[in-house]
Amino acid sequence: MGNHLLEVKGVDVLYGDVQVIWDVSIHVEKGTIVALVGANGAGKTTLLKTISGIIHAKRGEILFSGKSLTRLKPQEVVDIGISHVPEGRRLFSNLTVLENLKLGAYPSRARPLFAESLERAFSLFPVLKARKGQKAGSLSGGERQMLAIARAIMAHPDLLMLDEPSLGLSPIFVKTIFELIYALNKQKVTILLVEQNIHQALKIAYQAYVLKTGKIAISGRGDELLADPEVQKAYIGERWSKR
Ligand SMILES: Nc1ncnc2c1ncn2[C@@H]1O[C@H](COP(=O)(O)OP(=O)(O)O)[C@@H](O)[C@H]1O
Ligand SMILES: [Mg+2]
Repeated sequence: MGNHLLEVKGVDVLYGDVQVIWDVSIHVEKGTIVALVGANGAGKTTLLKTISGIIHAKRGEILFSGKSLTRLKPQEVVDIGISHVPEGRRLFSNLTVLENLKLGAYPSRARPLFAESLERAFSLFPVLKARKGQKAGSLSGGERQMLAIARAIMAHPDLLMLDEPSLGLSPIFVKTIFELIYALNKQKVTILLVEQNIHQALKIAYQAYVLKTGKIAISGRGDELLADPEVQKAYIGERWSKR
C-alpha cells in the first residue's frame, strides 16, 4: 500500500452529452499487474484513452507518481513514462519490424536507451529479431501483437497499458501473449491490462477491477475475484471457461 504509480480518482468521462464513465477510481501499485475487465462496451478503452490524454475527463483526477496528468496531451503522457498499446495494434504495415521498433523509441527519455531496449525486445520476442527486416504487414496476428507490445516497451515505460492484447488471436498465441505479459512484469514493468478474456487476466493480476456500464462493479485481488462465485457466474461461466 501507499506505493501507487497510477491513481485514477473519481473520474467521469463523456462523449458529447453521453456519459460513459461514472466516478471511476482505480489504483495501480508499482511493479504489479492490474486487470481491468468487463463486457464489451463497459468503458475499458475509454478509461485507457483518458489516462493516455487522448480524451479528457469531465471530473476527477489522474495522478502518476503523484503528479497530475489530467490535462496532459498524449505526447506528454508518453514522455512521463506511460505507453499504451491500443486495441487493434495500429502498426505501420509498410514499415519493417525494426523501423516500427525505432519509432517506438522516439520519446526523449527512450532515445539514449535505444540499444538496450532493442536488446530487451529481441530477447523477449525472438521471433521479431528473426523477422526484423520484414514488413509489419506481412506478420501473423500474434506476431503483430508482439510487435505492438515490443514497440511500446521501446519507449521505456514505467507503466504499460495493454488494450485487449489477446483479442482475435488463436489459443496458442493467447497463451504466449499472457506468458509474455507475465515475463515483462517480472522485468519490473508495471502493467494495466484490459481484457475480455477475464479468466486469463484474473489469473495473472495482482489487483483487478470489473467495469460494468461505466462503473466499477467489483474490485479485489485477482485470485479472490477468480474464486468469487458471483464473478464466476456473471463474468466467467461457460462462455469464458473454455478460453
Ligand atoms: N468515440 C466515441 N463516441 C461516442 N461514444 C463512444 C465512442 N467510443 C466509445 N463510445 C461508447 O462508449 C461506451 C464505452 O465504450 P468503450 O470504452 O469502447 O468500451 P469497451 O472498451 O469496454 O468495450 C460504449 O457505449 C461505446 O459505444
Ligand atoms: Mg475496448
